[in-house]
Amino acid sequence: MIKLIMAPLEGVTDKTFRSCYYDHFPGLNAALTPFLPIPDGVKRVPLRNLKQVALPSESPVHEIPQLLVSEPSAFLIAGRALERAGYREVNWNLGCPSRGVIRKGKGSGLMPHTDHILEILDAVLPELNINLSMKIRLGLESRDECFRLLPRLREYPISGLTLHPRLGTQMYSGSVDLDGFEKALELYGKPICYNGDIRSPGDFRSLKARFPQVEEWMIGRGLLADPFLAQKILSEVSFPDIGVNADEGADIAEPVIHPLTHREVRDFIDDLLKRMKGQFQREIALINYLKGILLFTFELESMPSEFRKELLSLKTLKEWEKFRYKIYEYFDSQ
Ligand SMILES: Cc1cc2nc3c(=O)[nH]c(=O)nc-3n(C[C@H](O)[C@H](O)[C@H](O)COP(=O)(O)O)c2cc1C
Repeated sequence: MIKLIMAPLEGVTDKTFRSCYYDHFPGLNAALTPFLPIPDGVKRVPLRNLKQVALPSESPVHEIPQLLVSEPSAFLIAGRALERAGYREVNWNLGCPSRGVIRKGKGSGLMPHTDHILEILDAVLPELNINLSMKIRLGLESRDECFRLLPRLREYPISGLTLHPRLGTQMYSGSVDLDGFEKALELYGKPICYNGDIRSPGDFRSLKARFPQVEEWMIGRGLLADPFLAQKILSEVSFPDIGVNADEGADIAEPVIHPLTHREVRDFIDDLLKRMKGQFQREIALINYLKGILLFTFELESMPSEFRKELLSLKTLKEWEKFRYKIYEYFDSQ
């Protein structure tokens, strides 16, 4: 069974975006939420943090909250709060490459410290009554960090492991290290969810051919650039040559076999704006949010520079109303 999971993209795939996305573009089995930052020494987790994640009863797609923590007590306080609120799983972020996060010894800043990672798990796992999964990189500076960790991590009862085969120092660019991923699979000896640079059904096909044992696939930027990507992977394409049938995927009510139309783009953006309006007190904040989303979605990242400049200069909803027709025209001209 192929399982497709939305990767967390902080600042983009927030709760409102995700729920709007699921309604317009089906095909996902689960979504990992952007990290909830949990400060060291925290005494309780504010309710507004938990509200960023849909409860199992609220969403058609299973959402897994992610924590950015490096201290057992903060981890447990947040984990127990999630447990009380009804979540069944919590994910631990060991991949964030931001300098500020690494400086605090969190995210990929933890990867060089195998003993510390395992000490945290020793303290947290016996006390937590919900599943704990992890999302890691190959390392902060060297893939040896991951190769040291995995043979020991395999002894721990974590519920899942996702590996983005880049180093923290690479941020999100440079090539993914598929040889490193292969070695990680060998060293861990248990299932690993693959994440990184799946942008087309062809990318999925070649990765699945190389790693036939992998069943869970996490996709971030590719799902935004082409919101039909999950459906294309699951329904347009079957992979008899590598032993995958389309009906192994998630339920797809109506397979999409046409390229994305401007109407679908418009409906999604209009719906998202409607859902977002109540959440921003200032118009400019809403416009800035929209700009951030648009730079990632619908292949607009490769828009001509003049067009991008105009988008970035928008300040009011009135200006947006005029500009949006240009987006649709641009879209139809592609
Ligand atoms: C803007 C942005 C925000 C991200 N935020 C998170 C995050 O909150 N938690 C996390 O584990 N990874 C985060 N990531 C990493 C992605 O989840 C993913 O691992 C990475 O983009 C590679 O997958 P992709 O090539 O399919 O996008 C972020 C990436 C980007 C570009």
